[in-house]
Amino acid sequence: MKGLAEKGVRISLEAEKIAESASIPAEELLSLGKTFITEDDILILIRKKADLREAPLAEAPPAQFIPPSDFRPSAREFGPSLRFHEKLDVTGKSRGSGKVEDFVAYFRDRFERISRLLSAYASKYPEASLDDMKRAEGQKVRSIVMITDIRQTKNNNILMDVEDLKGKFKILFTRREEEAFSRARMLTRDDIIAVYGKATNAFIIVEDFELPDLPVSRDRKLCEKDLAIAYLSDIHFGSNKFVKPYLDGFVDWLHGNRGNPELAGKVKYISIAGDLVDGIGIYPNQERELTEKDIYRQYALFDDFINSLPDYIEIIVGPGNHDAVRRGEPMPAIPKDMIKSDVHLIGSPAFATIECSDHLIYHGTSTDSMVASMPKLSYDKPEQVMVECLKRRHLSTIFGGNAIVPERMDYMLIEKEPDVLHFGHVHKNGYTKYRGTLVINSGTFQSTTDFQLKQGHIPTPGRVPVLELMSDTLRTLDFSR
Ligand SMILES: [Fe+2]
Ligand SMILES: [Fe+2]
Repeated sequence: MKGLAEKGVRISLEAEKIAESASIPAEELLSLGKTFITEDDILILIRKKADLREAPLAEAPPAQFIPPSDFRPSAREFGPSLRFHEKLDVTGKSRGSGKVEDFVAYFRDRFERISRLLSAYASKYPEASLDDMKRAEGQKVRSIVMITDIRQTKNNNILMDVEDLKGKFKILFTRREEEAFSRARMLTRDDIIAVYGKATNAFIIVEDFELPDLPVSRDRKLCEKDLAIAYLSDIHFGSNKFVKPYLDGFVDWLHGNRGNPELAGKVKYISIAGDLVDGIGIYPNQERELTEKDIYRQYALFDDFINSLPDYIEIIVGPGNHDAVRRGEPMPAIPKDMIKSDVHLIGSPAFATIECSDHLIYHGTSTDSMVASMPKLSYDKPEQVMVECLKRRHLSTIFGGNAIVPERMDYMLIEKEPDVLHFGHVHKNGYTKYRGTLVINSGTFQSTTDFQLKQGHIPTPGRVPVLELMSDTLRTLDFSR
């Protein structure tokens, strides 16, 4: 690390890696006054920084939320307009048993439906399936393929094994096609793409390729009612890092007590994208980090939270990898015997039309495998991971990167373009707009865990995005202050 060696300070490799990923400058490391900096020194430093930013985690006393007498929430005046697209939710329909025929059916469904999306593009070359390559030799073709393996050749070109429903072949990206070559670095196993190129007896030499992607432009609908949606995820009830004062601040705000009561009064819906509780046995020695070790009591805390919200708000609740559902995706809804309060339980992913706005809600577990496989992605910018999902029209392309249950239908596919894509899981807020879709990662109410510290990953607890549907305005309210 620059600036340390000149001052005679050494740093261990591991410590340097963590310091770099947490963006700790050399001056701050020098201020430790050490001649050799270890991993532990860095972790203590990050912990101090995190604790300075975050309120004490001490259990807050039971909160009472009493709205001011002049609080007139406009959301109370409107009935809900909420439709769940049950066909796109695995709840109650899981048939996957892990047999070979389930995998075959799963991949066939995925390939056929993504192919249909890719077929919507006008092709400059004739379409050719992979069993046709002998006949197509010497000609320019367009083929829709699934990538099964990627490797670099001796000449630093990229060679991929590909398949379609009829055969197997290879495709080659060369440096001569600079743009396609550089975009190909973001491709991973199991991606389905349309390639344009010249067929030879051994491979297609790629000139260009397309991902299924969203249409270039789409009109975003503006809803007629002046209502708002708040987005939450990763509350982690039961964890000793759950920051109750921040969540209490949010509830108090909804009751009209903390600035901008006009906006608070518009909130008619809350979408929660999983990890409601910390769960039990999710990772080794988790019990040491729990204040509540009974899963039912963890969900009882969640119920208390829901019951403290204004009664006119509709709450949509999906599961995450810490919740009491199967780990494999798609995840069915959290069972009703866990959550007793009045909420709409959905699977992950699920598709809901809230007022006029189509929402795709998914916990975001696949972020882990995408960050690990795509060089430009990081946990720091979760919205970029979400855009990669939209480009692929799929929420979890890398099969086996995180657990997938092969259902007959691929529920992870994004067939219908959403107006809003809502993820959680990475504990960091992130937003962007991509081709007419508003992308929201809703952060967390859990402060920095030791595991995250080691990764140099600092979460953003207590920040709640709120979308006003009539004006299409998104703002983030910070309850960590
Ligand atoms: Fe989480
Ligand atoms: Fe998660």
